[in-house]
Order: sequence, then structure tokens, then C-alpha cells
Amino acid sequence: MAQLNTQLAGRHYISPLMNASGIHCGLDYMLDELTHSKAATYITKSATLQKRLGNPEPRYYNYKQNSLNSMGLPNEGIDYYLKYVNQDPQTAQRILSITPLTIEDIPLLSKKIDASGYDGLIEINLSCPNILGKPQIGYDFDQMAHYMKVIDQSFYPGSYGVKLPPYFDLVHFDMVAQILNQYPLAFVNSINSVGNALMIHEQQTVIFPKNGHGGLGGATIKPIALANVHAFYQRLNKNIDIIGTGGITNGRDVFEFILCGASMVQLGTVLAQKNLDIFEQIENELHAEMDKYDYKTISEFKGKLQYIQENDAISGASH
Ligand code: SIN
Repeated sequence: MAQLNTQLAGRHYISPLMNASGIHCGLDYMLDELTHSKAATYITKSATLQKRLGNPEPRYYNYKQNSLNSMGLPNEGIDYYLKYVNQDPQTAQRILSITPLTIEDIPLLSKKIDASGYDGLIEINLSCPNILGKPQIGYDFDQMAHYMKVIDQSFYPGSYGVKLPPYFDLVHFDMVAQILNQYPLAFVNSINSVGNALMIHEQQTVIFPKNGHGGLGGATIKPIALANVHAFYQRLNKNIDIIGTGGITNGRDVFEFILCGASMVQLGTVLAQKNLDIFEQIENELHAEMDKYDYKTISEFKGKLQYIQENDAISGASH
């Protein structure tokens, strides 16, 4: 049987599957449930320095295999999540997500993490589209360069990664990679939701904040996420691993993210719409997909996307 084990930043995981930050990870009992599920690990809800209530409701909407959210980073504050992860016997395997709301928050967050003795990985969210008056850092390259400098001064090399928004222009992939390759990142997580999308029910917006604009997640964004993972796998230093996030609904999707270069993947909308059994289901489907191509390990096909040749017929295309 194929082996699903993988590595992220030199840490070993039994499979590439975990939740995306924000999904089933805001409170202790949710993290407990993830721990006891078939997920290889968990990431916490993105924590700010202080507890936040987030945006007014309604702020989340499911439509078919997609979702629209403008949660506004509701979270219990960094101290809460640090307490949780530090009592976890598997703390070195865990990922703590944090969002600096200002550049000044970066050293303050790092000081708290350092003082707590936390030795797991840290995901720094540079891409939340839902905070009124705060543009996504990942779309402002000067700001991003500035943030990365302060992040580098504040966190230990190899202890952190960044979560990026989706990019749509090849020049932007080059510019972002050029900034990130200057630093000792452990990983990049690509992509956050596609920001400021709109859904309409009857004649009305479906969420309240920002006149109905929010981050689009779910199956529709998978091709965008694959392209981002592929682009960063080609451009980033090889010691920066990639977490693929965006629109995964089944094991075939995970297979495609790994082909594009992902070492691990995160489940967002699908996990919000289904229950924790989805991890086992997707794991089984990934096994089947690997068997189909006779792959025994993840490393045999990670980053091995094949390019169709001019005038080639698409063989066996079914989707
Ligand atoms: C939110 O809390 O608004 C979602 C978090 C994110 O998209 O980064």
C-alpha cells in the first residue's frame, strides 16, 4: 500500500492532510477534535495580540462546493492558543497561526511565543482580506518587504512560514518570490481565499460586512491555488516547503497539489461543509490515486507535474 507520510520543514507527518486556519480550530474543543481525527496535524485559528470578536454576522455563507466569508479574524487572542499548543504532547508538530494587524505587532507576538517556550511551527498570515481599512499585506510588495524584514528580525530561522493571497500575474509571482527568497522561511502557504468576491441570493448580498464582499473558498478556486503552488514551487528556494490550500474536495485534488509541489495541504471549505470524517475519506482517495499511477511514496511524484506537448491529445481526460 502507498505510504502517505511527508515532511514539512524537516518535521515528519503521517499524511499531508490538515485543516486550514479558521476551520474548526478557534476553540480548545475543536482543536481536541482535530487531534483525535485522521488529520496529520492541526493549525490554530489565526491569532492576534488581543482577543477579537470579528465582523458582524452574517459573515459566512456556503453555496454548493464554495463558500464566502468575511469573518474578520474572530479569535481568542495569542495567549489562549499558546496555552493550548504548549500543553499538547505533539507541540513540535503543530502550527500556530498568527496575524499581525500592524507591523508593530510582529515583535510583540514573537516575544510572547518565545517566552512561552513554543517550539512548533508558526504561520504568519499576510493575506486576510476581511479587515476593514487594512489592505492585504501580500498585495503591497513594498509593505511586504518591510514586514519580512521585521519578521526575520523577530523569529528564529526556519521556525515560520507565511500565508499568501492568490496572485494572478507571472510578474507578481517573480516579485513575491524575490522578496521571500531573501529569508529563511520554513514554508509558504498558498493560497488564502480569493478576496472581495460577491455572492447574491435572490436580490441580496449573502454576508453583511463590506457590503457583501468576502473571501471566496471552495472548489471553484482550486485551479487558481494549483497555479500559485506550481509558480512558487518553481521560484522559491528549495528549502522553503509549500503548503497547498484552496478548493480541495477529494483525494484527486490532493494528488494534483502534490504534483504541483505541495508537501502538505489544508482543507478549508470542504471541512466546514462536512465533518471530520472527511480526512479519512480523502486519505483513502489519495491512496487510490497513488495506486492508479503505481506511486508508493509522496516524494516519488511531488513537484513532478508533466507538461502537455504541442499537438498532444489529452489522454483519458474525465474532468
Ligand atoms: C477571517 O477571519 O476573516 C479569515 C481569515 C483569513 O482569511 O485570513
